[in-house]
Amino acid sequence: MSGSGRHVVDGEGRRYLDFFGGILTTMTGYDVPEVVDAIRTQAGRMIHTSTLYLVRPMVELAEQLAPLSGIRDAKVFFTTSGTEANDAALLLASTARRSNQVLALRNSYHGRSFATVGITGNRGWSASSLSPFAVHYVDAGHRFPGSAGRPDGAAVIAAAVADLRDVIVTATAGDVACLIAEPIQGVGGFTVPPDGLFGAMKAVLDEYGILFVSDEVQTGWGRTGEHFWGYQAHGLTPDLLTFAKGLGNGLSIAGVIGRGELVDGLTANSISTFGGNPLVSAGALANLRYLLDHDLQANALAQGARIVDRLRPLADKLDVVGEVRGKGLMIGVELVGPDGRSPDAAAATRVLEHARRRGLLVGKGGLFGNCLRIAPPLSLTTDEADEGAGILVDVLTDVDSEER
Ligand SMILES: Cc1ncc(COP(=O)(O)O)c(C=O)c1O
Repeated sequence: MSGSGRHVVDGEGRRYLDFFGGILTTMTGYDVPEVVDAIRTQAGRMIHTSTLYLVRPMVELAEQLAPLSGIRDAKVFFTTSGTEANDAALLLASTARRSNQVLALRNSYHGRSFATVGITGNRGWSASSLSPFAVHYVDAGHRFPGSAGRPDGAAVIAAAVADLRDVIVTATAGDVACLIAEPIQGVGGFTVPPDGLFGAMKAVLDEYGILFVSDEVQTGWGRTGEHFWGYQAHGLTPDLLTFAKGLGNGLSIAGVIGRGELVDGLTANSISTFGGNPLVSAGALANLRYLLDHDLQANALAQGARIVDRLRPLADKLDVVGEVRGKGLMIGVELVGPDGRSPDAAAATRVLEHARRRGLLVGKGGLFGNCLRIAPPLSLTTDEADEGAGILVDVLTDVDSEER
C-alpha cells in the first residue's frame, strides 16, 4: 500500500482517488514533503520522552492551537485519539461542575471507550447501556428525511431549544455538567444543523451554568470551508473543544482545548504517556503549518462547492438521491427508497462498490448506513474534484436505474 497526494495504491497495484482520506484524517495529503521531512528529522532526533520534561514541539504546537481555538485563556492537553480527548473533556467538565450528568445529541458519535460509548447516541456504535455518566439525549433535528418536507432552519432551532429546556427540567437534577455536540455529525451521516442552532441551545445552557463541549474531531481545521471550527457557524464559543484526526495527518495526536481554569481544575495527577510526544507533535506542527500556509480552508470551500454543484441536481433527478448536504469538503448524500424517504442502505453499499471499481473511494455512514460520506483531503485539486464528482454522478445514475 502507498499514497501520494490524494491517491492511494492498494496491495495489488490498483490506484484510487481518495474521497474519504482515512476517515477525514489524511488532511493535507499522503506524501506532503514538508510533513514527511519533519517526521523524519524528529525521528532521527528523538521519538519519545515523557512530559516530565518540557517537549519543545509539544509546547510550540499548544502555543499555536490555543489562540486558534477562539477560547479565552485557552490551555491544551494532548492525547492520542479523539476518544481519549472526549474522555478528557468529560473528566474536566464533570470535575468543574461536580456532576456526572451529561447531555448528548441523538445520532451522535464520540468514541469507543466506556465513557464515550455512553454518550454516543447511535445504537450501532453503542455496545453498552452502562455508563459512568447519567446521560440524556437531546434532539437537535438530525432526522433529515430527504429533500421533501424538511422544516426550515428557524423551526428546527425552536424545536431543539424547546426540547433542551424540556429535558433539563424533566429528566435531570438541574446541575448538568455539560452538553457535548458535533457541529456536523460525522458517523451520523454528515447531518448539518441550521446555522445558529448551537448558539441558541447554549443560551439555555448558560442559564444553568452547563458547559458546552464542541467535538471538532471531524469538523475542525477548516474542513467545513466557511470556518476553521464547526462551532463558528453557531455564534458561540465553547468551554471545551476536542480535536483529533486531521491534525496529525495520520499520526496519533488529539487533544482538548479549554479555558485555563477548566483544564487546570483536576484535583489529582493526569498524564498521557504518548499524548503529544515529540514525534507526533513535530509532524502535527508541520502539517498545521502547511494547512495554514496554503489556506486549505479556502480550498475546501471552493472544491466542496464544485462537487456539490455537480451532485445537488441529482436530488431532483434521481429517485435514489434523497438529499445532498454538507459544508466544504464534508458532503453527505442520503440514499432513499422509492418512497423518497426510507433509508436505502443497500443502495449506499452498491454506490460505494461501483465507485471503488471505477477508482474512487468514498465513505458511508448515517444511523441506517444509507449516507455516502465524501471527505477528501483538503488539498484536493480542481481536476480531482471534477474527476471524483463525475464518477459519483455516473455511479449514482447507474444505481438509480438498477433500482427501478
Ligand atoms: C466526532 C468524533 N468524535 C470522536 C471520535 C473518536 O476518535 P478516535 O477514533 O480517534 O478515538 C470520532 C471518530 O470517528 C469522531 O468522528
